[in-house]
Amino acid sequence: MLFKQQALLRQKLFVLGSLAVGSLLYLVARVGSLDRLQPLCPIDGRFGPRGQDEIPLRALQFKRGLLHEFRKGNATKEQIRLHNLVQQLPKAIIIGVRKGGTRALLEMLNLHPAVVKASQEIHFFDNDENYAKGIEWYRKKMPFSYPHQITIEKSPAYFITEEVPERIYKMNSSIKLLIIVREPTTRAISDYTQVLEGKERKNKTYYKFEKLAIDPNTCEVNTKYKAVRTSIYTKHLERWLKYFPIEQFHIVDGDRLITEPLPELQLVEKFLNLPPRISQYNLYFNATRGFYCLRFNIVFNKCLAGSKGRIHPEVDTSVITKLRKFFHPFNQKFYQITGRTFNWP
Ligand code: A3P
Repeated sequence: MLFKQQALLRQKLFVLGSLAVGSLLYLVARVGSLDRLQPLCPIDGRFGPRGQDEIPLRALQFKRGLLHEFRKGNATKEQIRLHNLVQQLPKAIIIGVRKGGTRALLEMLNLHPAVVKASQEIHFFDNDENYAKGIEWYRKKMPFSYPHQITIEKSPAYFITEEVPERIYKMNSSIKLLIIVREPTTRAISDYTQVLEGKERKNKTYYKFEKLAIDPNTCEVNTKYKAVRTSIYTKHLERWLKYFPIEQFHIVDGDRLITEPLPELQLVEKFLNLPPRISQYNLYFNATRGFYCLRFNIVFNKCLAGSKGRIHPEVDTSVITKLRKFFHPFNQKFYQITGRTFNWP
């Protein structure tokens, strides 16, 4: 009898203990996410008149869990209607540059409660077949968001594709354009490394970087090599400037985003007229990865995929010097046009 009572008591204690631990974990997780969202007001007047552009607290609290469910395609029409969710055309696009850190930038901006990212590269403006499907097709590719949030997409091919500036202009002539750049020679090698890895995966052989980047006949930089051409930032930017004034662009320092992401993100928040919400809490250095990773709250954090942050092959120093010399005048022009100077050699 006594033994039975003791067993019952133990069972009760176990249930009560589990409930207490569960509630504690729930509270800690909630406080973690709420901490980040506070203070909600004031919104600095940067976000338009009060009431017009503010993000309701309820919306912010729901953002992670709910939108995640909806992205997975689990939302019913009723849920979408109930929460006033919409698929909005982007208010800002990360147009490039490939290997500049475009994924890191998009994921880090998505830490902001007013930003919703399009997870996939949509390639609407650079792909004729997609473009022919029309703007409604593009809009339907966008994630669900609250009307007060902004959608951002990234497709780095936009920056270098001839037809894209005019097409984006036709959609929205006042759209905000983000360009993330890295030191041009490093970017070119990163670009090469990505292609090389693709070839290796298919058990194919590939040329050495030196062979592609230098024309064997002239011993000069091979400007026909795409990885070199993409790094001539000013040439591409000049095409964009035929459609958009420079004020509509913001240049992100991709090298600094690797080592010191927060100040770069704060500049973007300002450019997008968003209240400053991304904090050091949201970014932590992961020594194993060698990069900053993202912390949404105490329970949810993530690093970028292993395909970001590859080890580059060693490149002959004379080739690096030649490339740096080649890019130098283009870089000067780029600084002049954008008003942002980098310590590139
Ligand atoms: P490497 O692979 O050359 O190191 P993109 O997303 O445009 O393809 O850019 C990839 C680059 O993003 C990577 O180039 C990496 O250096 C950079 N990057 C910047 N911040 C990063 C982060 N937090 N985690 C992983 N990669 C990051």
